[in-house]
Amino acid sequence: MEPPSEPKVKDPSIPNRMVSNKTANRPFLAHKEYQEKQKQLHEAWLERKKIRDEKIARGEEVGPEEKDPTAQEEVGVLGLLKFFLYMIIFIALAGKFITGSYTWDYQGKWLQLKTYLPGNQRLFSERLLAEFDGNKPGRPIYLAIDGDVYDVTKGKAYQPGGSYHILTGVDAARAFATGCFKDHRTYDLRGLSDKELDSIDHWKKFYSEHKDYFKVGRVSHPPIDPASPIPEHCDPKKAAKSQQVSNKEIPGKQPKDAQKDRNEL
Ligand code: HEM
Repeated sequence: MEPPSEPKVKDPSIPNRMVSNKTANRPFLAHKEYQEKQKQLHEAWLERKKIRDEKIARGEEVGPEEKDPTAQEEVGVLGLLKFFLYMIIFIALAGKFITGSYTWDYQGKWLQLKTYLPGNQRLFSERLLAEFDGNKPGRPIYLAIDGDVYDVTKGKAYQPGGSYHILTGVDAARAFATGCFKDHRTYDLRGLSDKELDSIDHWKKFYSEHKDYFKVGRVSHPPIDPASPIPEHCDPKKAAKSQQVSNKEIPGKQPKDAQKDRNEL
């Protein structure tokens, strides 16, 4: 039962029926009212269109064609693009307001145009790579790790006299695992532990994600003679340990995945 105080209005869906104007019914009634108005607008537009068409048929002059005021605008690709553009502007402004930076203080490589331009990826020989060790003025500085060659010119540590200059112009992947910067300037990863190989992966990720360093290609290495001795660790204690590990190694087994894509570009 409806409370007697609620005023009644015509039910827009069933003729000759009255319904209460209570709060719960209002959205439905408002929607029906909107639909009714749209219908009237559409019919009025149809009428005007008809008159216009008749005028055209009679050869009379007519004004520009009127758009149906009730036609639903399609969102489409352009609408979506607009939406994303507004979102980006909103996020950038919010960043400026909250952090003082349009990019929310992010300065990584994904905001640099260079990341999206197809770079000049080259295949280096070891000899060519050595030309980019920073000792030739005006040339960029490159280093390689597990076959990937990076431009590290922007890193101070790689300039001549810098603490990591020794890693430039060469694939010293082993040194990244062992810290033997002088003795392990080699891509030979035989006998390294999983932990050491993980640290190579760590540094590979470091270079690939670094905002100032860019991959410039791959270096091709000659295959390692399995009969050649495994490079010794520069720390005698660790040398003894790795000796034990390599004695246990199955001949021909490659350590983890760090060595797997060695010669791919
Ligand atoms: C396995 C051992 C280690 C490896 C592979 C290694 C590797 C590196 C690399 C590749 C960088 C350069 C990062 C860049 O491009 O900005 C670096 C920076 C640095 N490392 Fe090491 N590091 C090792 C151990 C150490 C140790 C033991 C110390 C401390 C005595 C140290 C102190 C530093 C410092 C101070 C920097 C910053 C240098 C600069 O930007 O000028 N590292 N390290």
